[in-house]
Amino acid sequence: DSTSNDASSRNPIVIAANRLPVMRTDDGWAPSPGGLVRALLPMLRESGGTWVGWTGNSDDHVEPFHVDGVDLHPVPISEEEIELYYEGFSNDALWPLYHDALRDSTYDAAQWEAYRSVNERFAVTLANIAPTDATVWIHDYQLQLVPGMLREQRPDVTIGFFLHIPFPPYELFSRLPWREEIITGLLGCDLVGFQRPKGATNFIACAQQLLGVDAHDGIIENAEYQTRVDSFPISIDFGEVEEMAAGRATRKRTSQIRARLGDPEVIMLGVDRLDYTKGIGLRLQAFAQLLEDGRLDPERHVLVQVATPTREAVEHYKDERAQIERLVGEINGRFSRIGLPVVHYLYQTLPYDELIALYRAGDVMLVTPFRDGMNLVAKEYAAAHIDGDGVLVLSEFAGAADELTDAVLVNPHDNEALQDAILQAVAMHRHERRHRMAGLRDQIRKSDVQGWADRFLTALLHAGEAP
Ligand code: G6P
Repeated sequence: DSTSNDASSRNPIVIAANRLPVMRTDDGWAPSPGGLVRALLPMLRESGGTWVGWTGNSDDHVEPFHVDGVDLHPVPISEEEIELYYEGFSNDALWPLYHDALRDSTYDAAQWEAYRSVNERFAVTLANIAPTDATVWIHDYQLQLVPGMLREQRPDVTIGFFLHIPFPPYELFSRLPWREEIITGLLGCDLVGFQRPKGATNFIACAQQLLGVDAHDGIIENAEYQTRVDSFPISIDFGEVEEMAAGRATRKRTSQIRARLGDPEVIMLGVDRLDYTKGIGLRLQAFAQLLEDGRLDPERHVLVQVATPTREAVEHYKDERAQIERLVGEINGRFSRIGLPVVHYLYQTLPYDELIALYRAGDVMLVTPFRDGMNLVAKEYAAAHIDGDGVLVLSEFAGAADELTDAVLVNPHDNEALQDAILQAVAMHRHERRHRMAGLRDQIRKSDVQGWADRFLTALLHAGEAP
């Protein structure tokens, strides 16, 4: 539509994110899988823009390069900075604090200093490469100081920021020793976007309480400009997932998976990064209790849990992994039969096409995080179910719960409720399953990741105008 054209064709778009949208392959670089990258790369290509980010390796001094006609500009991060900025401040201070303080945060001045200095490196890089009047779109909690730093150096550029994770209420956020600095950093933006309306109101409340700013109608008044604050729930590339799910190779792989699992009546599926926010342990416990009580039967019901390795150097992640793996061992020891485990546990990063085949094989998808910005697995599962069947059990505490009201919604802290939700999904009649799945698919189809990016960029373009 016309808004998307004027959003993407006027000014060059420069994106900054902690990670570049590419992976190293045997012969160079390839785009990372997933809808976000697929949605944003074409926009960059058309607008003549650049993506600024880290390659994922320490001290990786790579010259700027192109992938698929898109300019990529690596920002080097040293081994010590990975420890202090990435594992430390980003993932051991901000991550738990922003996720309901599910684990204790470490607050450490050296980590903060590294966070500040890596953010400064991103800001200087952006200031050097952004064309005049460019649109700069900065992503996620690792880079919250960049907007303020960039505005000081480049008042001509338009600055947007999108937070992919929740923004906590003042009661939690105010624990952060550098709380004013973070808010000031984000107020360098013309537009700050959050997943849910609650994130936006939490942010405005923090800005008012900590900095005494004036706010009205989702607009914060700064000395010489305004910052607009709103919610933009992210999504997936519905068409891409559907297409992959429909492929002959996927169909073949899906029936192979079912057969390998012993052709059980019901395949339950969990797919998460191995993160303590995801509620994998409580999910396993609920499953075990249902087996124990004879309400599920290991001959008819199996669980596949994919846990993708992530942030393995951080202590809370090591603990979580140990706990999950002990539980898997206990459950299998008690309920499996020779050649037929009841829990199939993969601590692996699976290729995207294998995941899509697994989604198709899954009769019941369990997405039960304690807190999650959005959760795209829930949306991918529904998009992959081109057969119109399958049940999604979804935590109320995932951002996706706002839109995916046709899921079986559950409070994962309530173990009885979680068990009931699993049983409800397993026993659901075909008619209701199909009705709910159609609702899920309609919802995701009509607000996919392209629409999300267009809405954000259009709002950013108009951020300076009167409401
Ligand atoms: C979440 C964050 C992203 C992050 C991703 C993977 O989705 O919002 O910013 O890139 O997790 O985590 P990692 O630490 O491996 O980048």
